[in-house]
Amino acid sequence: MTDHATAVAHPNIALVKYWGKRDAAMSLPATGSLSMTLDVFPTRTTVTVDAGLAADVLELDGRVLEGTPLDRVARFLDLVRELAGDDRRARVATTNAVPTGAGLASSASGFAALAVAASAAYGLDLSPRDLSRLARRGSGSASRSIVSGVAVWHAGDGDETSFAEPTEAPDMAMVIATVEEREKPISSRAAMARTAETSPFYPAWVSDTSATLERMVDACAAHDLDLVGRIAETNALRMHALIQSCDPPIRYLTAASLAVLDRVEALRADGTLAYSTIDAGPNVVVLCAPADAERIAASLADVASTVVARPGPGAHLVEDDA
Ligand code: DP6
Repeated sequence: MTDHATAVAHPNIALVKYWGKRDAAMSLPATGSLSMTLDVFPTRTTVTVDAGLAADVLELDGRVLEGTPLDRVARFLDLVRELAGDDRRARVATTNAVPTGAGLASSASGFAALAVAASAAYGLDLSPRDLSRLARRGSGSASRSIVSGVAVWHAGDGDETSFAEPTEAPDMAMVIATVEEREKPISSRAAMARTAETSPFYPAWVSDTSATLERMVDACAAHDLDLVGRIAETNALRMHALIQSCDPPIRYLTAASLAVLDRVEALRADGTLAYSTIDAGPNVVVLCAPADAERIAASLADVASTVVARPGPGAHLVEDDA
């Protein structure tokens, strides 16, 4: 007997970053964070539960993966099996339009799609809040890709209260400026752990980011896009300063990233509302008003390859053809 379900999820870009865990086993973050789910780079995942399988199987873009990626998915499926009281193994087939490992948060769309598809395939009917909590266990930022548009992920005081939900926000666009598509030098998971262990600035980051999140939620509710952008750029540059202060140091920003940051400053000097944010990689995302996005993308064409993104849907089930 087999049961299957297919889900689609999109990456999200944080405007207040998640960088640090207070409980790695439960994937509880040191602070809350806020992001926009994109309408580009979908991940599509089909989960087929099969009593005939001796072990879980993972396929990414038609290639069978073993080792760490399979272990991470199998551990995640164990959580779903425990909730469902069903110990059958599953085949997970994913197609990913996100440049994997380039700092565009492919684990966010990946685990959000997996949470939605696996819970349905195992017969669970979870609320959006419980899906967000489940996705969080796969990858912290995946908790936010369950949500459409702008999401706030509450740090919470435990597993029950650490989930993402929609929050009021101005209409915005993001220009994804890709300067490099190669694998990043160190995963965000490992870099986050090294930051907490070795950076003398980590306690300041945790207290500052908690306060920043409150200001960001207020700026979003006030529909003040300029203030949202300013808070986001400051928070992202503080995260990169923090990461660079590890021992041994980690640096994701390259000369090509800085060239985009310079351009964004120049756009602002010319009166365009544009602010930068950068995840754990060299690529820059420019936050702007929807009406300016195409012009900003065109102005960056000589320093990056650009894609304009708008707020996208949360992870959801789709018709499956398994
Ligand atoms: C820089 O969610 O990938 O993108 O919870 O260890 O899987 P794990 O980390 P992950 O980290 C994302 C870090 C970030 C900032 C953000 O998305 O908030």
